[in-house]
Amino acid sequence: MGFLGLSTVKAVQSSLKQSKPVALRAMGSVRHYSDLPLSIPVTFPNGESYQQPTGLFINNEFVASRERKTFEVFSPSTEDVIAEVYESREQDVNLAVEAAEKAFEESGWSTDDPARRGAALYKLAEAMEEHADTIAAIETLDNGKSISNSKGDVALSIGVLRSTAGFADKLTGQVIETGEDHFTFTRKEPLGVCGQIIPWNFPLLMFTWKIAPALVTGNTVVMKTSETTPLSALYVCNLIRERNIFPPGVLNVLSGFGKITGNALTEHPTIKKIAFTGSTATGKAIMKRCAESNLKKVTLELGGKSPHIVFDDANVEVALKAIVSGIYYNSGEVCCAGSRLYVQEGIYDEFVAKFVEYSEKHVKVGDPFDPETVQGAQNSINQLDKILKYIKIGEDEGASLLCGGERLPEKGYFIKPTIFGEVKENMRIVREEIFGPVITVSKFSTVDEVVKMANNSDYGLAAGIQSTDVNKIINVSRRLRAGTVWVNTYNDFHPMVPFGGYNQSGMGREMGEEVLHNYTQVKSVRMGILPTA
Ligand code: NAI
Ligand code: MG
Repeated sequence: MGFLGLSTVKAVQSSLKQSKPVALRAMGSVRHYSDLPLSIPVTFPNGESYQQPTGLFINNEFVASRERKTFEVFSPSTEDVIAEVYESREQDVNLAVEAAEKAFEESGWSTDDPARRGAALYKLAEAMEEHADTIAAIETLDNGKSISNSKGDVALSIGVLRSTAGFADKLTGQVIETGEDHFTFTRKEPLGVCGQIIPWNFPLLMFTWKIAPALVTGNTVVMKTSETTPLSALYVCNLIRERNIFPPGVLNVLSGFGKITGNALTEHPTIKKIAFTGSTATGKAIMKRCAESNLKKVTLELGGKSPHIVFDDANVEVALKAIVSGIYYNSGEVCCAGSRLYVQEGIYDEFVAKFVEYSEKHVKVGDPFDPETVQGAQNSINQLDKILKYIKIGEDEGASLLCGGERLPEKGYFIKPTIFGEVKENMRIVREEIFGPVITVSKFSTVDEVVKMANNSDYGLAAGIQSTDVNKIINVSRRLRAGTVWVNTYNDFHPMVPFGGYNQSGMGREMGEEVLHNYTQVKSVRMGILPTA
């Protein structure tokens, strides 16, 4: 037994290497035509193996894609191929949507006692808890994030399933008093088949955040995972299959690319709603397609450039911890990362010096399977290139590089914690989302000045305040235009607390009771009362 406590599985399947590739290079992955087995052994760096499903998950079964295309999945910490999985295309989307539609109409999922749906989510939480170590290791292998981050993701995912399961008894309508001639009431009804498209920075967490509210409210789902991180969701689907957690067709999961599978989902005439997490540019394109096809309902959780404010009266140790986790957590690939730091003039020099020292000495970058590692690999070569490009832009714009600014020399997509000082508010590195361990620092003197700078953004996902003055905290938190304001903490999620964006950071909320509005529609029933003899 190694550190993961996994049982070793015998490698019986033929090696992936045997498939004969007819390669075409797209988005960092090579696509093949092959007869890939539906389950293959994958080995972790510690030598232990598990069985990885490779098929599309439709009707509670893993199936090959219709065109039998596959694509390679990489480990960003080693740059090696981990596995191939089947790639869905339009015909597969049609099959999955048909399965979801049939389940919505015929399985009783949408009409039975909601408690049944809550019970299914509890069961899934339990199954994931039993396999928590394996799931965390898969996430680290596929995404590149540190194992401590992955373990946190698994725990929060399980929490989200349990909290959302509890909402099964919150699906209550109203009786509305309209006078004695009528009896009027409302019902909260599910939407139907929901398409869900998730990104690569939190593959498992986004999977659970998205499916839990859609399912507890009685919808059925076709989900597309990200092309760079399809593995953990497929592993969880296998638990769903083995334990019969949902009726067939209630949840369908497709691996595939945005422009093919994603487009097929956003244009599908049967799908009633799309929930998306990813870039603002893709979110806008999705919304347009949803409108033009059949006016699907849309919720979007998009990018950010969140301000993090440190006032002179902050508790320096608490603030430092929050700033560090605000930017380096998950290798900086966080939509709500605190990537614009504003420090008040009284403590500016001392605080920035401390932050630089901490970033250089204590943020361990490297092997994501090392439990001591803080910052693992960036998710893909594309993301690595984008971050390096922005570092160059920052230097060209005249910002001063206080630390980092380069990748590690060894294999894998690792970037050193990077801090830019002397930035100006109109610089691209201050305005645009970088999505990596890169932070800009500005000095401010007054509350009014910093509120103005903080709100001067196209985005509005989150903001941070570091202060011990309760009046200042309340005043500033009210004035910041952001969906979440963290005070004396950061990147601090709870499954009961709603999350989502102002401005171009999106629309709709995830988690908490708020999310239920995004997966139900209200029906008003107004009934005339006949005279009673
Ligand atoms: P993306 O937004 O294009 O990709 C996210 C998901 O959308 C993936 O599953 C992708 O396959 C899918 N997708 C792409 N094009 C689509 C389309 N036309 N229709 C339907 N689905 C589509 O983001 P990408 O290219 O992976 O990353 C670019 C930048 O986006 C990052 O550097 C980062 O700044 C931002 N981003 C923000 C995220 C967040 O959590 N807010 C998550 C991922 C990326
Ligand atoms: Mg990967």
